[in-house]
Amino acid sequence: MATTRPAEQPVLDGRRVRLRPWRTQDAPAVLAACQDPEIQRWTQVPVPYGPADAEEFVTGIAPRTWAEGGALFAVVRPGDDALVGSTGLFPPVDGVGELGYWTVPGQRGQGLTAEALRLLADWSLDVVGLHRVELLVDPANTASRRVAERAGFVAEGTVRQRFLHRGRPSDVVLHARLAGDAPDG
Ligand SMILES: CC(C)(COP(=O)(O)OP(=O)(O)OC[C@H]1O[C@@H](n2cnc3c(N)ncnc32)[C@H](O)[C@@H]1OP(=O)(O)O)[C@@H](O)C(=O)NCCC(=O)NCCS
Repeated sequence: MATTRPAEQPVLDGRRVRLRPWRTQDAPAVLAACQDPEIQRWTQVPVPYGPADAEEFVTGIAPRTWAEGGALFAVVRPGDDALVGSTGLFPPVDGVGELGYWTVPGQRGQGLTAEALRLLADWSLDVVGLHRVELLVDPANTASRRVAERAGFVAEGTVRQRFLHRGRPSDVVLHARLAGDAPDG
């Protein structure tokens, strides 16, 4: 499929969430969210997480990721722009992109993460033109595995010691969606 990635990082609108580029003003909300033990446990955010980490994320890592072919999005409520979480496509290789996400603790359990992930996966496959998007999820991360299924990803199996998590080789359940997969998974 031909690549049709736009020049500027777009805004992606869903029914209950909006995915938009990160802004400098988002740093305090990112700082607050990333104090959460679950985000620190399951993602690659620095631990401890300080104000400089949040600023670097929104003003450095996010624009660099776009420049390198990926796209990190703030997930917000369309009405008041309140931060719901983070979801992103890391720079793809050979038409394959890895996605990731975390959600603000107070915004969980409403299906918002699955909706945001589905939007991002659809855009990555249909607009960016990737043929495959994947998620590397720790087998013990039940919530994330469920989000992946809800967003139409297929669990393809456990890959042993695929991921270096805080210096420790860790197993992952590899989830993927292909461009030709039925959108409902
Ligand atoms: C994983 C995480 C993003 C889930 O966010 P969320 O907003 O609660 O997810 P959703 O509301 O979209 O839920 C989607 C599905 O997962 C289920 N789910 C959510 N949390 C769950 C939990 N703790 N245990 C079991 N199922 C769970 C929901 O019930 C829903 O399934 P359903 O539609 O069948 O009811 C959130 O817990 C988080 O930020 N965790 C820390 C960071 C992280 O793990 N990131 C992913 C790394 S791979």
